[in-house]
Amino acid sequence: MAPRLQGKVAIVTGGASGFGKGIATKFVEEGAQVLIADLSDEAGRGVASELGCAFTVGDVTKRVDWERLLKEATEKFGKLDIVINNAGVTYSNKATEEVTEEEFDRVMNVNVKSVYLSTNVIVPYFMENKISGNFIQIASTAGIRPRPRLTWYNASKGAVITATKAMALEYGPQQIRFNSVSPVIGSTGMTHLFIGKPNTPENRKAFESTVPLGRGSTPSDIANACCYLASDEAAFITGVNLEVDGGRCV
Ligand SMILES: NC(=O)c1ccc[n+]([C@@H]2O[C@H](COP(=O)([O-])OP(=O)(O)OC[C@H]3O[C@@H](n4cnc5c(N)ncnc54)[C@H](O)[C@@H]3O)[C@@H](O)[C@H]2O)c1
Repeated sequence: MAPRLQGKVAIVTGGASGFGKGIATKFVEEGAQVLIADLSDEAGRGVASELGCAFTVGDVTKRVDWERLLKEATEKFGKLDIVINNAGVTYSNKATEEVTEEEFDRVMNVNVKSVYLSTNVIVPYFMENKISGNFIQIASTAGIRPRPRLTWYNASKGAVITATKAMALEYGPQQIRFNSVSPVIGSTGMTHLFIGKPNTPENRKAFESTVPLGRGSTPSDIANACCYLASDEAAFITGVNLEVDGGRCV
């Protein structure tokens, strides 16, 4: 079978760790040229050398970094087709009245403003070059089936899902597709914050017990969904929030 992303160029944000690393790995395996952007220089370099893909330090909350990412991808690979907005953060599980303004701003900036900036910078590039571009946001089941004590994280992912659907409508005529993928609890760099305790199998049990298939999302679960949505097999799919959650949101 031909690689499913042959000839495509993708930016994967937050690709130095967790789900983003899984997505970058799958995309490289399927023939895509990948540029990882992450705040973490050391981890990002490590993943890029392991996968044989490109890496740049970048902060998804900064417009200049998005402008540079577009420039680097197009200069290095000749074009850009796919943006995976995966980088995300949360604050530690806590009573909502205790969330600080700084925590609120950080969650909204990294999870939501990043999607605004990426589309603000890259949609004009897709339109000017008549590229049928493709945005995939890593949202969360938290955006549609929230858990208590994570209110503003839940709300940030709800915003991502709604904005993605709105842009799917708006840019359909230009053949630019917008979808989101929603994992349920996984075992990554931020899991200890969701559960408010160290990330051990024992401590994950309470969250995982609410998943009908009885486990959390893995990086390959999320990567496989992103690969499908980014490929031409999904050419008629836009505005979808694909829950990769073992049935949690049913
Ligand atoms: N882990 C879970 O249980 C879970 C569940 C549902 C959704 N998600 C979502 O999955 C996505 C990936 O998270 P993960 O679980 O792999 O966590 P992670 O902490 O392992 O990875 C997140 C990566 O994003 C990077 N990052 C953070 N802020 C950044 C910024 N401003 N600019 C660039 N890079 C930045 C980090 O350096 C890190 O490499 C997030 O959007 C998260 O909200 C995670």
